[in-house]
Amino acid sequence: MRSESLQNFLDAAQSAFATRVQNPHATASLSRIFAALETHGTPSDALGSRLPPCVHLEQAANPQNFPDPTLHRLIETFQTLESDLQWWPRKGDWTNAGPGFGDNHANAMIVGPGGAERRSDVWIGASLVAPNIRYPDHDHPPEETYLVLSPGQFMQGLDNWFEPGIGGTLYNPPGILHAMHSGDAPLFAFWALWAEPHPA
Ligand SMILES: [Fe+2]
Repeated sequence: MRSESLQNFLDAAQSAFATRVQNPHATASLSRIFAALETHGTPSDALGSRLPPCVHLEQAANPQNFPDPTLHRLIETFQTLESDLQWWPRKGDWTNAGPGFGDNHANAMIVGPGGAERRSDVWIGASLVAPNIRYPDHDHPPEETYLVLSPGQFMQGLDNWFEPGIGGTLYNPPGILHAMHSGDAPLFAFWALWAEPHPA
């Protein structure tokens, strides 16, 4: 069964995404995602594990840095859950990754393949990137909504880089090329992907 810490995080994520997202495609995607999450997946029995770049969580995921109550709650529930998560380097290709990328980022799947709750329909996770590191260009079939919790730049398609800011969001349509780049602070963001076909 789903742990209380995971359910609390998912409840906080639902309200944080809902209050921040404006793009109608993202809103529709998030309603599909959180409706699907009412059905529980399979809890993972793997132990949580960190990578060296997780040291940046101390700054990037410090609840004291989030005065907004919705984001504060999200970060608090994430911190309670974090010891159950497995952090990994990116598994896909590293096209246009910046120097030092390999040792200076970590991703955690919260629900989804390899996540604390195993399932294939919804992927929700976090990315943490050490200061002054460019994340690779990548794309994937599932649509994706980011909720950004730190400074840092994002790129979609061939558009210019932009900074959503703390509490900012962006929606990646299926297959769009995207990337991110930290500045002098660590970059920290949650993402939520709908990995099933849209209902007709
Ligand atoms: Fe992505």
